[in-house]
Amino acid sequence: MKMDITDATDIANLINTFYDKVKEDEILGPIFNVQIPVNWQVHLPVMYRFWENAIFYTGGYTGNPMALHAHIHKKIGLEAKQFERWLKLFNETTDELFEGEKAELAKERALSIARVMQQKLLNA
Ligand code: HEM
Repeated sequence: MKMDITDATDIANLINTFYDKVKEDEILGPIFNVQIPVNWQVHLPVMYRFWENAIFYTGGYTGNPMALHAHIHKKIGLEAKQFERWLKLFNETTDELFEGEKAELAKERALSIARVMQQKLLNA
């Protein structure tokens, strides 16, 4: 039986697995690999803190994802299909690795943030 997300190690596992898929994905890969070349050594620890805060309310993330994605949108023009793929990969990864209340919470948080982001950036 799969276990729920319980600690920082689980979050790191979830996020590493998710971005491994993102990098390989035909829709999202080129954004992270080419258009906005991401420094993974910097980016991944930020993502761990973001998700630790989103799921365990650690208060350890102080960034502004909305402003950052607005900047990305201005630069490369994000589209609805990219948000759909992002969510699909996030949900798939979570379900592959975990099962339980926190796993459900992670997917709910991803969906609500993605929807707000998409609404604000694309008006759609
Ligand atoms: C179309 C969908 C998305 C694309 C293409 C995208 C792309 C990116 C890129 C290129 C970065 C910059 C990495 C860097 O700084 O090097 C980033 C950062 C980030 N993304 Fe996304 N993203 C998407 C959706 C989301 C969603 C739905 C969430 C949250 C649920 C999210 C959370 C974050 C966070 C927390 C950061 C780091 C912010 C910081 O540096 O403080 N992203 N994203």
